[in-house]
Amino acid sequence: MRPLSGRAGVPGDKSISHRALMLSALAVGESVVEGLLEGEDVLATAAAMRAMGATIERGADGRWTIHGVGVGGLLQPDQALDMGNSGTSTRLLMGLVASHPITATFIGDASLSKRPMNRVIAPLSEMGAEINASPGGRLPLMLRGLCPAVPIEYCLPVASAQVKSAVLLAGLNTPGVTRVIEPVPTRDHSERMLRGFGAELTVEEDGDGARVISIRGEAELTPQHIVVPGDPSSAAFPTVAALIVPGSEIVIGNVGLNPTRAGVYDVLRMMGADIEFVDRREVGGEPVADLRVRASTLRGIEVPPDIAPSMIDEFPILFVAAALAEGRTITRGLEELRVKESDRLAVMATGLRAIGARVEEAEEGLVIDGTGGAPLAGGATIATHLDHRIAMSFAVAGLAATDAVTIDDMTPVQTSFPVFTELMRGLGAELR
Ligand code: S3P
Repeated sequence: MRPLSGRAGVPGDKSISHRALMLSALAVGESVVEGLLEGEDVLATAAAMRAMGATIERGADGRWTIHGVGVGGLLQPDQALDMGNSGTSTRLLMGLVASHPITATFIGDASLSKRPMNRVIAPLSEMGAEINASPGGRLPLMLRGLCPAVPIEYCLPVASAQVKSAVLLAGLNTPGVTRVIEPVPTRDHSERMLRGFGAELTVEEDGDGARVISIRGEAELTPQHIVVPGDPSSAAFPTVAALIVPGSEIVIGNVGLNPTRAGVYDVLRMMGADIEFVDRREVGGEPVADLRVRASTLRGIEVPPDIAPSMIDEFPILFVAAALAEGRTITRGLEELRVKESDRLAVMATGLRAIGARVEEAEEGLVIDGTGGAPLAGGATIATHLDHRIAMSFAVAGLAATDAVTIDDMTPVQTSFPVFTELMRGLGAELR
């Protein structure tokens, strides 16, 4: 196990990149986006917005220029919108189409075609969209928007930023005020960016502590210059790698630390991780810092379930950290992990066991008894099930294993973190 060292910067935030393209495509005039994540998921959003009329170009300097069509101006796409592996593209774009007078067919890969869409079909149908989905409320589906749509007040039955955003984006072209009530806070990039583009959006707390988000529709959006911060979800992989490989010390520059996203760093620190936030600043209206990470003796903890929404994508890599910690880590309240790109509770439990970790799988979480820092056995091949975060989590686990860990398919990493392998190698990781 060679220690990791050096400095790296992670690519742009995936959630913010999707939203930057969508809102730029709805503004009147030219927006510029710097630091856009050029991963397959975001490129699927770009292709869909182009198919509905926006002009989107990448300059030689890596900046993206977008000429929007104006709210209400989306055009009928000629072909099915191929969402690839991207749940965020699918659900947010369904929201946009729902209040435009167009019909669109959404298709995706095998993983996306298994994921539940009823969570967006329900509120968007209330707003007047007509949706014909495959059995079980899955892709492929056809959505016929209604214009003008009907404003609704919708209380989220699942903690999902995608559902929240779908309703808010549908509300953008709906007369009157559309309201989403969010009992458990989720990532707030849509709210921040909608405001940044000039939409009339307010966030209040009701008597029960729920967030009430109201958007006034038929908005006019003003083009923006957006700088996308580095993705904290991507940064979590080299972070955990440096924590679990003895002797490591690395710096990851420009990591977004929006409080609705950064829960994994709080939890790792609760476990004893040496993570320093250096040079805290703001980039594109989001808090950012450089992370200095040193190898640490981690201790198992009971992860407070209310932190889950702020680190929902980071559980796979947290489970790897837990597998090398001293003592027991208990996680609960994670039923949403079963409907991500794969069933992340089942796939992580199976894979971790195969490389020698002690893991019990419960309905809503994993219980992991760590090695106390001793390497895992390794020596197994992991099935990634078209899930980028499974691939990267086990690549990191392999760095702290005696025998090599083989990943059956690294191509899913292209969806969110195309430079993962080069970046890890640059820090000294032995990935073949
Ligand atoms: C996302 C929201 C989350 C997250 C996904 C990105 C977003 O999904 O898992 O990777 O950009 O809004 P849910 O809304 O399903 O929790």
